[in-house]
Amino acid sequence: MQHETVEKNIGLMGLLIFIVISFGGLAEITPLFFIKDTTEPLKGMKPRTAAELEGRDIYIREGCNNCHSQMIRPFRAETERYGHYSVAGESVWDHPFLWGSKRTGPDLARVGGRYSDAWHRVHLLNPRDVVPESNMPAFTWLEDAVLDGELTGRKMKALRIVGVPYTDEDIANAKKAVEGKTELDVLIIYLQSLGILLKDKQ
Ligand code: HEC
Repeated sequence: MQHETVEKNIGLMGLLIFIVISFGGLAEITPLFFIKDTTEPLKGMKPRTAAELEGRDIYIREGCNNCHSQMIRPFRAETERYGHYSVAGESVWDHPFLWGSKRTGPDLARVGGRYSDAWHRVHLLNPRDVVPESNMPAFTWLEDAVLDGELTGRKMKALRIVGVPYTDEDIANAKKAVEGKTELDVLIIYLQSLGILLKDKQ
């Protein structure tokens, strides 16, 4: 093909530019399909329980992720403060991811087990009671809202479609597992589950 033909035909030139650029994209993207590390769950990982799942939904509803990231970067300053850096396998079953980068408050990727349930209860109802200088809002209404669990099983079914390995039994027992718990209860159960699998391996 004459160079001139390409230069004088903008449609053809556009097409050829697209093909050339695609090679760059393919070289970056294709290997990702074969790297197992990024798609395999961590060893010993279980799908979130019904209560953890409902807690996570409340976390999203209340916008906790607007002030808290769940992504510890592999830098000394971060790992000293928060624990083992985040790895891809920890979030393969999360839909959507809550990694984020906005840190008005501390990262919560490994907050599980750092405080007692009672501490979280007081903190969420009025952060100033345990951290006087805190500017985190109080979430008082969570204490009064009781879950009926009507939708929990259906949420699990939806997650199963996108690859979270819930069993029929998990789904059948979902309602019973959350019914009667308050939103505050399940939010704390969720917080206590965060990042515990990698905690000891610092
Ligand atoms: C407006 C920003 C903001 C929002 C929204 C927010 N937080 Fe916070 N959070 C903070 C700040 C600032 C701190 C640090 C002071 C403190 O401990 O209260 C904090 C601290 C925390 C801590 C203690 C972390 C640690 O390692 O000491 C937890 C747990 C927490 N928040 C959970 C939540 C949850 C759950 C929600 C949603 C219901 C939420 N936060 C919403 C700003 C926020």
